[in-house]
Amino acid sequence: MSLLQHGRSIYNEHGVWELLRRSYDFVRERGAGWIGAHLLAESSIGSKFKYAISHSAFLTTVYFYIRRTFKHEKRAILRGHYQYYKKEREREDPEHRIIRHTHMLEKGISMENRREVFGVAVANELVENVIAAWKRRDEPESDDQLRWSIDVLAKYFEVVSIESEALQNTYNKFQKFVTSTGVEIGNRVPRPRHSLETNPVEFDNLRALAEQRSSTRWFQDKPVSHDVIDKAIRVAAESPSACNRQSFEYRIYDDKELLDEILQPPLGVTGYRDNIPCVVVLVGKHRGYFRESEKNVPLIDGSLSAMTFQYALESLGLASCTINWPAMYREHNRMERLLNLDEDENIILLMAVGHPNPEGKVPYSNKKNIENLRSYNKCD
Ligand SMILES: Cc1cc2nc3c(=O)[nH]c(=O)nc-3n(C[C@H](O)[C@H](O)[C@H](O)COP(=O)(O)O)c2cc1C
Repeated sequence: MSLLQHGRSIYNEHGVWELLRRSYDFVRERGAGWIGAHLLAESSIGSKFKYAISHSAFLTTVYFYIRRTFKHEKRAILRGHYQYYKKEREREDPEHRIIRHTHMLEKGISMENRREVFGVAVANELVENVIAAWKRRDEPESDDQLRWSIDVLAKYFEVVSIESEALQNTYNKFQKFVTSTGVEIGNRVPRPRHSLETNPVEFDNLRALAEQRSSTRWFQDKPVSHDVIDKAIRVAAESPSACNRQSFEYRIYDDKELLDEILQPPLGVTGYRDNIPCVVVLVGKHRGYFRESEKNVPLIDGSLSAMTFQYALESLGLASCTINWPAMYREHNRMERLLNLDEDENIILLMAVGHPNPEGKVPYSNKKNIENLRSYNKCD
């Protein structure tokens, strides 16, 4: 409900004095600037005003400063950059750089016309970081990511000319590391595409799954198995992400008290809130990125995986409904405190998950014709 509609409903229900009293409290709480900008933002006059100020970078900045709409996002981006470099500097957890560099080398190895020597600086840094991370790791047997980096490095030194002076030192360091740790070199390296094509899903099956997946809001009063959710997350983890960094987390809540706290207005669960047995809060982490141009990446990576997650749930007999996360600083603060979010973390979306109630109604949600959704070679 918009602010104006809200005001009108108070006036209709309680009269003008109550409206004035609440307005006074509201102005004291939020500030006149915020309310003025908010009223403008919501009205049709406001849309013209917004269009006018959009021509000035300064006025646009002032507008969003007053509105505070992106305050926590911007803060999370800056704090993410800080965390990225801090972790690297302290060699505390250079995880994302390791992943990014490993990916850069595996991409280089996959090139059809690759140079005799490539990625020297990346390889140098990667070897240093892998050695440091290997010393620090606490769960030696399960550190799959590091073993992937080691496999890729071994392959890299196999395909580049190690006679090159620039690489000799790095190669020797890597060899010494492999010999001293006795780490086994595996096979997590670029492979021909045909070796993946073992059991492709028929188009008709995929289409049937896509058609069956519908936002479901009515669930059985039955707990959702953590094993089944984990299974779906394993599939979601196969989704693409920028440089394979996967800088997001699925936080799952099925404790009744926590659910009640999380699913507060203005979340769009009115009418079916009490029926939700389990909610996923998908959190993006800016610490995986060090460039401002990557500000949307946690959102994109997380959302792509969320779609895979929904299909996986559906194939496992569970149903789901995405719940919009309003990008409002007050909401963010509430959830930040409740869930103890880190400074660089932003909520991407929420998702209700449960065993569908077979009798519960599901909206038809007619889909647009593809003519409205796509174009080829469009330039005008
Ligand atoms: C980003 C996003 C936010 C959504 N927010 C809500 C929400 O707050 N409450 C709700 O009941 N449904 C929400 N939905 C579900 C949509 O209403 C639903 O996906 C849409 O109507 C299409 O229906 P379908 O998912 O069954 O194809 C959301 C979906 C998306 C992708």
